Amino acid sequence: MVIVRNTALRWIRRNKILFIFGITILLFQIFLTMKFFAISKNSREQKWQPVLEKSINTVFSGADRLKSGSFDDEAASNIVQNKDIKVKINTHLKLEKLEFSPNCKISGREAVLAINRAKTRKCKQLITNVTCLSLIGELYPEKLPNFCLDERNNFGKSLGCFKDEKDFRLLSGFYGVFNKDNSPVNCMKLCLQSGFPFSGVEYSNECFCGTDEPSIGKKLPDSSCNMKCPGDVHKACGGYFTINIYHTGIKKFVPQIANTGSGTGKPVRIVFLLTLNGRALRQIKRLLKMIYDKNHFYYIHIDVIC
Ligand SMILES: *[C@@H]1O[C@H](CO)[C@@H](O)[C@H](O)[C@H]1NC(C)=O
Repeated sequence: MVIVRNTALRWIRRNKILFIFGITILLFQIFLTMKFFAISKNSREQKWQPVLEKSINTVFSGADRLKSGSFDDEAASNIVQNKDIKVKINTHLKLEKLEFSPNCKISGREAVLAINRAKTRKCKQLITNVTCLSLIGELYPEKLPNFCLDERNNFGKSLGCFKDEKDFRLLSGFYGVFNKDNSPVNCMKLCLQSGFPFSGVEYSNECFCGTDEPSIGKKLPDSSCNMKCPGDVHKACGGYFTINIYHTGIKKFVPQIANTGSGTGKPVRIVFLLTLNGRALRQIKRLLKMIYDKNHFYYIHIDVIC
């Protein structure tokens, strides 16, 4: 202990200026902290409260709200003890205060907050309805139509059985092994999602994707592809270096050359889809300023305010 103290003292003596500097900064920090809390305590009722109320409706920060008797004991226990601006959020939906019964059980935190935040009954009901739709998976479609199909629209069309080679794969864009669920359809879905126009199953559990159509010279009789698929016993999944190839139905990707404006063609027009929420208005203005061009399109989604 003595040794420690002695070393500490010696260190302080040796680095006097550094020590004084450090202490000054520390005192300044304490001063700032005290000042901050003094402000927040004094002006919370007038200044902070409206802001908080707007931003998180279920922030129970004012004693006046309590007095009006609009909250029960549980809610009251969530109320900040007058000290600072620490706030707890009540994530329980008070059904008896809704004045209507929701079509489903509302459980998500965000949904409950939004419903509590809404001022009118109609608005609460609207949010409730949307939440219920979302919970049963009917708010958004599960699948979107595919606009990238090739002209022949031949998703799933079989090209037949082909001879494959170890060092020269017919489909060389992707390769995966699926011991449990390889099948023409599953492999095709995988290749389609990755934008490959061709998919192929081989050696029972292998799935290949590729961009180039296999040459007709490699075609074999169907009987050469005779291994069963682990994911579909009714289908053949190639064989030993033989592969069943299918169209995924997607167009071969052809990159477009951007028009730099110097040419005679029409300028490129970009559609921007912006989903905005929160209150970062200045940020949005800045963003628009950066991306704005009179030739482009801007679709801006903003949540209903009700
Ligand atoms: C919510 O759904 C209920 C029942 O399906 C319907 O009666 C009501 O009009 C809807 N409310 C709103 C605001 O959409």
